[in-house]
Amino acid sequence: MTLTSPSAPTAVSSSTADSISIRGAVKIYGSGPSQHVALQNVDVDIKRGQFVSIIGPSGCGKSTLLRLIAGLETADSGTAEVFGVTPERACAAKMIGLVPQAPALLPWKDVLGNVSMPAKVNRRADKLRRRIHGHLERPAPDMLDLLGKAGLTDAVHKLPAQLSGGMQQRTAIVRAFGVQPDVLLMDEPFSALDEFTRESIQEQLLDIWDENKTTVVFVTHSVSEAVRLSDKVLVMSARPGRITASVDITLPRPRSQAMLKTAEFHHFEDVIRDHLQTAWQENPITGSTPIPAGAAQ
Ligand SMILES: Nc1ncnc2c1ncn2[C@@H]1O[C@H](COP(=O)(O)OP(=O)(O)OP(=O)(O)O)[C@@H](O)[C@H]1O
Ligand SMILES: [Mg+2]
Repeated sequence: MTLTSPSAPTAVSSSTADSISIRGAVKIYGSGPSQHVALQNVDVDIKRGQFVSIIGPSGCGKSTLLRLIAGLETADSGTAEVFGVTPERACAAKMIGLVPQAPALLPWKDVLGNVSMPAKVNRRADKLRRRIHGHLERPAPDMLDLLGKAGLTDAVHKLPAQLSGGMQQRTAIVRAFGVQPDVLLMDEPFSALDEFTRESIQEQLLDIWDENKTTVVFVTHSVSEAVRLSDKVLVMSARPGRITASVDITLPRPRSQAMLKTAEFHHFEDVIRDHLQTAWQENPITGSTPIPAGAAQ
């Protein structure tokens, strides 16, 4: 179905019912000389239960791609489906949990109030969710337990303004986990965390992913984080934003701290660094942004 047509049918198509599928997505911001091609003919296939990371230079369109999957952005041309339905419908059914690049917490609610919010709004979503093919029913999590695992027990009754940047990020992560979404979209969720907190939260994320069979799409600037977490890493390039490489990370799981020091792990880091370097060389930051053929104007 076409992204620009909100009234398009939302029936399950058998070929994409078990995947996130983006076909030929084009996103152009602005017009005239300030026109910017944020995404050019982007194709993505993510199977249910996969952990996929997106890595690439700043401004290459990673957040735009994530917002497209979340139904927060519409493409100028191309199609997008999340398990056979439109992103908008998946979002309405609370199948999608998003950890945005900025935590976006409600300033008047304390930590517990913020993380409990999604379960309280739009209860109709639970009914919708059950009707969507392949949806996995899960018991509601104990939010205090999740906050404890994220090291936020002492902050439960604090307001966002009283938290550090890292604590705000962790609150946003718990809020997204709490919905028990089929798809978890995470936009540089660990960027404000110190190294040890980051490693501990990575492990919790992998546990949740493993237990719940959640599909995760994860944006990061860290090569080693992408390798440690992912089944597949998509490398993007800027001007215009596009996917230039897809690397399957065939390392066995679970991926322990010890594995981070092995030659196999370094091999995958090197492969991705090489792709990133090519992306940089091809796209100097002052480069032009050709308009793709067939893109909506
Ligand atoms: N709402 C918008 N209006 C105009 N241009 C936009 C808008 N959102 C994004 N862009 C432009 O689209 C391009 C891609 O932006 P995006 O936020 O997706 O990049 P990114 O890869 O997530 O970057 P970063 O790593 O810095 O977060 C950038 O050049 C940005 O300036
Ligand atoms: Mg971004």
